[in-house]
Amino acid sequence: AKEMSDEEKVYRYNGVLYSTLLSPKEHLKCLEKMQAREDDIMLVAYPKCGFNWMVGVIKKIITAATGVKSESKLPPLIEFHGPENLKNVEEAPSPRLLGAHLHPDNIPASFYEKKTKILVVFRNPKDTMVSFYHFSNSNPALPSAKSWDTFYSQFMSGEVPWGSYFDHALGWEKKMDDPNVMVVTYEELKQDLSENIRRISSFYGFSLTEAQVQQIADASTFKAMKESSSSSHGNMGNVFFRKGEVGDWKNHFTPEQSREMDEVFNKRLAGTKIGAKLNY
Ligand code: A3P
Repeated sequence: AKEMSDEEKVYRYNGVLYSTLLSPKEHLKCLEKMQAREDDIMLVAYPKCGFNWMVGVIKKIITAATGVKSESKLPPLIEFHGPENLKNVEEAPSPRLLGAHLHPDNIPASFYEKKTKILVVFRNPKDTMVSFYHFSNSNPALPSAKSWDTFYSQFMSGEVPWGSYFDHALGWEKKMDDPNVMVVTYEELKQDLSENIRRISSFYGFSLTEAQVQQIADASTFKAMKESSSSSHGNMGNVFFRKGEVGDWKNHFTPEQSREMDEVFNKRLAGTKIGAKLNY
Protein backbone atom coordinates (compact mmCIF):
# COMPACT_ATOMS: atom_id res chain seq x y z
CA ALA A 1 0.00 0.00 0.00
CA LYS A 2 1.15 3.53 -0.72
CA GLU A 3 2.49 5.27 2.37
CA MET A 4 0.55 8.31 3.55
CA SER A 5 2.45 11.58 3.61
CA ASP A 6 2.68 13.47 6.90
CA GLU A 7 0.20 16.01 5.49
CA GLU A 8 -2.34 13.28 4.71
CA LYS A 9 -2.03 11.76 8.19
CA VAL A 10 -4.05 14.56 9.80
CA TYR A 11 -7.13 16.54 8.83
CA ARG A 12 -9.07 19.32 10.47
CA TYR A 13 -12.50 18.83 12.06
CA ASN A 14 -14.21 21.73 13.85
CA GLY A 15 -10.88 23.54 13.87
CA VAL A 16 -8.90 20.72 15.51
CA LEU A 17 -6.42 18.29 13.91
CA TYR A 18 -7.25 14.57 14.08
CA SER A 19 -5.55 11.47 12.77
CA THR A 20 -6.99 10.51 9.38
CA LEU A 21 -6.51 6.80 10.04
CA LEU A 22 -7.46 6.63 13.72
CA SER A 23 -10.38 9.08 13.79
CA PRO A 24 -12.00 9.38 10.35
CA LYS A 25 -14.54 12.16 9.87
CA GLU A 26 -17.56 9.82 9.51
CA HIS A 27 -16.65 8.41 12.91
CA LEU A 28 -16.39 11.80 14.63
CA LYS A 29 -19.77 12.76 13.15
CA CYS A 30 -21.49 9.62 14.50
CA LEU A 31 -19.71 9.99 17.82
CA GLU A 32 -21.63 13.15 18.68
CA LYS A 33 -24.78 11.04 19.09
CA MET A 34 -23.14 8.29 21.13
CA GLN A 35 -25.20 7.22 24.15
CA ALA A 36 -23.35 7.13 27.45
CA ARG A 37 -24.50 5.13 30.46
CA GLU A 38 -24.59 6.29 34.03
CA ASP A 39 -22.33 3.39 35.06
CA ASP A 40 -19.72 3.86 32.30
CA ILE A 41 -16.20 4.20 33.63
CA MET A 42 -14.90 7.11 31.59
CA LEU A 43 -11.26 8.15 31.39
CA VAL A 44 -10.15 11.25 29.50
CA ALA A 45 -6.66 12.64 28.96
CA TYR A 46 -4.87 15.00 26.64
CA PRO A 47 -2.37 12.83 24.70
CA LYS A 48 0.70 11.69 26.65
CA CYS A 49 -0.53 12.70 30.11
CA GLY A 50 -0.60 9.15 31.48
CA PHE A 51 -3.72 7.65 29.89
CA ASN A 52 -2.32 4.11 29.52
CA TRP A 53 -1.02 4.17 33.09
CA MET A 54 -4.54 4.89 34.32
CA VAL A 55 -6.12 2.28 32.02
CA GLY A 56 -3.86 -0.28 33.71
CA VAL A 57 -4.79 0.98 37.17
CA ILE A 58 -8.54 1.14 36.48
CA LYS A 59 -8.63 -2.38 34.99
CA LYS A 60 -6.93 -3.67 38.12
CA ILE A 61 -9.39 -1.77 40.33
CA ILE A 62 -12.34 -3.31 38.45
CA THR A 63 -10.87 -6.80 38.70
CA ALA A 64 -10.12 -6.42 42.42
CA ALA A 65 -13.49 -4.91 43.29
CA THR A 66 -15.73 -7.15 41.19
CA GLY A 67 -13.69 -10.33 40.90
CA VAL A 68 -14.26 -10.21 37.15
CA LYS A 69 -11.27 -9.79 34.84
CA SER A 70 -11.91 -7.05 32.29
CA GLU A 71 -12.04 -8.77 28.88
CA SER A 72 -13.02 -5.68 26.94
CA LYS A 73 -12.12 -5.83 23.25
CA LEU A 74 -13.09 -2.21 22.74
CA PRO A 75 -10.47 0.15 21.29
CA PRO A 76 -9.01 2.36 24.01
CA LEU A 77 -10.56 5.57 22.67
CA ILE A 78 -14.17 6.23 21.66
CA GLU A 79 -12.92 8.44 18.80
CA PHE A 80 -11.07 5.52 17.21
CA HIS A 81 -11.39 3.65 13.96
CA GLY A 82 -14.87 4.08 12.47
CA PRO A 83 -18.63 3.83 13.04
CA GLU A 84 -18.45 0.02 13.45
CA ASN A 85 -16.56 0.62 16.69
CA LEU A 86 -19.50 2.61 17.99
CA LYS A 87 -21.72 -0.37 17.32
CA ASN A 88 -19.39 -2.53 19.43
CA VAL A 89 -19.43 0.10 22.17
CA GLU A 90 -23.22 0.17 22.03
CA GLU A 91 -23.43 -3.61 22.43
CA ALA A 92 -20.79 -3.95 25.16
CA PRO A 93 -22.08 -4.99 28.58
CA SER A 94 -21.92 -2.66 31.60
CA PRO A 95 -19.80 -1.44 33.14
CA ARG A 96 -17.92 -0.24 30.07
CA LEU A 97 -14.41 1.16 30.49
CA LEU A 98 -14.27 3.96 27.89
CA GLY A 99 -11.58 6.47 27.03
CA ALA A 100 -11.00 9.62 25.01
CA HIS A 101 -8.31 12.18 24.23
CA LEU A 102 -11.02 14.67 23.27
CA HIS A 103 -11.51 18.25 24.43
CA PRO A 104 -14.31 18.31 27.05
CA ASP A 105 -16.59 20.19 24.64
CA ASN A 106 -16.18 17.38 22.09
CA ILE A 107 -17.07 14.54 24.41
CA PRO A 108 -20.56 13.30 23.44
CA ALA A 109 -23.16 15.37 25.32
CA SER A 110 -24.76 12.23 26.67
CA PHE A 111 -21.85 11.70 29.11
CA TYR A 112 -22.77 14.94 30.87
CA GLU A 113 -26.53 14.32 30.66
CA LYS A 114 -26.19 10.86 32.22
CA LYS A 115 -23.80 12.19 34.86
CA THR A 116 -21.23 9.55 33.97
CA LYS A 117 -18.16 9.67 36.21
CA ILE A 118 -15.25 11.11 34.20
CA LEU A 119 -11.66 10.82 35.44
CA VAL A 120 -9.33 13.30 33.76
CA VAL A 121 -5.56 12.82 33.74
CA PHE A 122 -3.38 15.85 33.13
CA ARG A 123 0.36 16.51 33.22
CA ASN A 124 2.68 19.51 33.25
CA PRO A 125 2.88 20.90 29.73
CA LYS A 126 6.64 20.60 29.29
CA ASP A 127 6.84 16.87 29.99
CA THR A 128 3.65 16.34 27.99
CA MET A 129 5.26 18.04 25.00
CA VAL A 130 8.44 15.95 25.31
CA SER A 131 6.44 12.74 25.51
CA PHE A 132 4.28 13.81 22.54
CA TYR A 133 7.41 14.63 20.53
CA HIS A 134 8.88 11.15 21.01
CA PHE A 135 5.49 9.53 20.42
CA SER A 136 5.01 11.37 17.12
CA ASN A 137 8.31 9.95 15.93
CA SER A 138 7.44 6.38 16.86
CA ASN A 139 3.75 6.13 15.94
CA PRO A 140 3.32 5.61 12.19
CA ALA A 141 -0.30 6.85 12.35
CA LEU A 142 0.82 10.35 13.34
CA PRO A 143 2.90 12.87 11.37
CA SER A 144 6.55 12.60 12.40
CA ALA A 145 7.74 15.46 14.59
CA LYS A 146 10.70 16.35 12.35
CA SER A 147 12.88 18.49 14.60
CA TRP A 148 12.31 19.30 18.28
CA ASP A 149 12.07 23.00 17.41
CA THR A 150 9.39 22.34 14.79
CA PHE A 151 7.38 20.22 17.19
CA TYR A 152 7.78 22.84 19.90
CA SER A 153 6.17 25.47 17.63
CA GLN A 154 3.37 23.12 16.60
CA PHE A 155 2.57 22.19 20.21
CA MET A 156 2.61 25.82 21.34
CA SER A 157 0.16 26.80 18.58
CA GLY A 158 -2.06 23.74 19.07
CA GLU A 159 -1.25 22.36 15.61
CA VAL A 160 -0.94 18.78 16.88
CA PRO A 161 -3.43 15.90 16.80
CA TRP A 162 -6.28 16.45 19.33
CA GLY A 163 -5.49 20.17 19.46
CA SER A 164 -4.11 22.63 21.94
CA TYR A 165 -2.98 21.56 25.42
CA PHE A 166 -4.02 24.97 26.74
CA ASP A 167 -7.50 24.76 25.21
CA HIS A 168 -8.01 21.36 26.83
CA ALA A 169 -6.86 22.69 30.22
CA LEU A 170 -9.19 25.70 29.95
CA GLY A 171 -12.04 23.39 28.95
CA TRP A 172 -11.62 21.28 32.09
CA GLU A 173 -11.27 24.40 34.21
CA LYS A 174 -15.00 24.95 33.64
CA LYS A 175 -15.73 21.54 35.14
CA MET A 176 -13.46 21.64 38.18
CA ASP A 177 -16.46 21.90 40.52
CA ASP A 178 -18.52 19.23 38.76
CA PRO A 179 -18.86 16.30 41.21
CA ASN A 180 -18.88 13.87 38.26
CA VAL A 181 -15.47 15.04 37.05
CA MET A 182 -12.24 14.29 38.90
CA VAL A 183 -8.91 15.65 37.73
CA VAL A 184 -5.72 13.91 38.74
CA THR A 185 -2.23 14.87 37.58
CA TYR A 186 0.66 12.70 36.46
CA GLU A 187 2.82 14.38 39.10
CA GLU A 188 0.34 13.55 41.90
CA LEU A 189 0.28 9.94 40.71
CA LYS A 190 4.08 9.78 40.75
CA GLN A 191 4.14 11.27 44.23
CA ASP A 192 1.59 9.00 45.89
CA LEU A 193 0.05 6.30 43.71
CA SER A 194 -1.64 4.40 46.58
CA GLU A 195 -3.51 7.45 47.81
CA ASN A 196 -4.70 8.19 44.27
CA ILE A 197 -5.80 4.59 43.74
CA ARG A 198 -7.99 5.02 46.86
CA ARG A 199 -9.40 8.31 45.54
CA ILE A 200 -10.02 6.95 42.04
CA SER A 201 -11.75 3.78 43.22
CA SER A 202 -14.09 5.63 45.53
CA PHE A 203 -14.82 8.20 42.79
CA TYR A 204 -15.99 5.36 40.53
CA GLY A 205 -17.91 3.77 43.41
CA PHE A 206 -15.65 0.78 44.07
CA SER A 207 -14.34 -0.15 47.48
CA LEU A 208 -11.01 -1.87 47.93
CA THR A 209 -9.20 -3.30 50.91
CA GLU A 210 -5.89 -1.73 51.86
CA ALA A 211 -4.11 -4.90 50.70
CA GLN A 212 -5.76 -4.58 47.27
CA VAL A 213 -4.70 -0.93 47.02
CA GLN A 214 -1.10 -1.86 47.77
CA GLN A 215 -1.17 -4.76 45.33
CA ILE A 216 -2.45 -2.51 42.53
CA ALA A 217 0.11 0.19 43.33
CA ASP A 218 2.96 -2.35 43.22
CA ALA A 219 1.75 -3.71 39.88
CA SER A 220 1.36 -0.21 38.39
CA THR A 221 4.83 1.25 38.78
CA PHE A 222 6.50 2.30 35.54
CA LYS A 223 8.90 -0.65 35.78
CA ALA A 224 6.13 -3.19 36.34
CA MET A 225 3.97 -1.83 33.54
CA LYS A 226 6.86 -1.59 31.10
CA GLU A 227 7.75 -5.20 31.85
CA SER A 228 4.26 -6.41 31.03
CA SER A 229 3.80 -3.99 28.12
CA SER A 230 4.42 -6.50 25.35
CA SER A 231 1.34 -8.41 26.47
CA SER A 232 -0.75 -5.26 27.04
CA HIS A 233 0.46 -3.23 24.04
CA GLY A 234 2.24 -5.65 21.70
CA ASN A 235 5.06 -4.09 19.69
CA MET A 236 3.96 -0.59 20.81
CA GLY A 237 4.93 -1.46 24.42
CA ASN A 238 8.21 0.43 24.44
CA VAL A 239 6.56 3.37 22.71
CA PHE A 240 3.82 3.83 25.33
CA PHE A 241 6.17 3.11 28.27
CA ARG A 242 9.14 5.28 27.35
CA LYS A 243 10.75 6.89 30.39
CA GLY A 244 8.03 7.52 32.97
CA GLU A 245 9.62 10.42 34.82
CA VAL A 246 8.83 13.96 35.91
CA GLY A 247 11.23 16.59 34.55
CA ASP A 248 12.54 15.03 31.32
CA TRP A 249 11.75 18.42 29.75
CA LYS A 250 15.05 19.68 31.17
CA ASN A 251 16.82 17.47 28.62
CA HIS A 252 14.90 18.99 25.69
CA PHE A 253 13.84 22.62 26.26
CA THR A 254 16.24 25.46 25.57
CA PRO A 255 16.19 28.18 28.28
CA GLU A 256 14.37 30.42 25.80
CA GLN A 257 11.68 27.80 25.08
CA SER A 258 11.22 27.15 28.79
CA ARG A 259 10.77 30.87 29.42
CA GLU A 260 8.27 31.21 26.59
CA MET A 261 6.27 28.21 27.84
CA ASP A 262 6.17 29.72 31.36
CA GLU A 263 4.91 32.99 29.90
CA VAL A 264 2.17 31.38 27.79
CA PHE A 265 1.17 29.10 30.66
CA ASN A 266 0.92 32.04 33.05
CA LYS A 267 -0.97 34.13 30.55
CA ARG A 268 -3.52 31.46 29.61
CA LEU A 269 -3.92 29.63 32.92
CA ALA A 270 -3.23 32.35 35.49
CA GLY A 271 -5.65 32.22 38.42
CA THR A 272 -7.26 28.96 37.30
CA LYS A 273 -7.69 25.91 39.51
CA ILE A 274 -6.35 23.62 36.84
CA GLY A 275 -3.36 25.91 36.31
CA ALA A 276 -2.54 25.65 40.02
CA LYS A 277 -2.67 21.86 39.73
CA LEU A 278 -0.43 21.80 36.65
CA ASN A 279 2.05 24.31 37.98
CA TYR A 280 5.41 22.62 37.77
P1 A3P B 1 7.11 9.52 28.85
O1 A3P B 1 7.08 9.60 27.36
O2 A3P B 1 7.51 10.82 29.49
O3 A3P B 1 7.93 8.37 29.35
P2 A3P B 1 -0.14 8.19 27.50
O4 A3P B 1 -0.43 6.84 28.06
O5 A3P B 1 -1.17 9.20 27.85
O6 A3P B 1 0.21 8.12 26.07
O7 A3P B 1 1.15 8.73 28.29
C1 A3P B 1 2.40 8.15 28.11
C2 A3P B 1 3.35 8.63 29.18
O8 A3P B 1 3.01 8.01 30.44
C3 A3P B 1 4.78 8.21 28.86
O9 A3P B 1 5.61 9.25 29.36
C4 A3P B 1 4.88 6.93 29.67
O10 A3P B 1 6.20 6.51 29.93
C5 A3P B 1 4.17 7.34 30.94
N1 A3P B 1 3.77 6.20 31.77
C6 A3P B 1 3.10 5.09 31.39
N2 A3P B 1 2.94 4.25 32.42
C7 A3P B 1 3.52 4.82 33.49
C8 A3P B 1 3.68 4.43 34.86
N3 A3P B 1 3.23 3.27 35.32
N4 A3P B 1 4.34 5.28 35.69
C9 A3P B 1 4.81 6.46 35.22
N5 A3P B 1 4.69 6.88 33.95
C10 A3P B 1 4.05 6.07 33.08
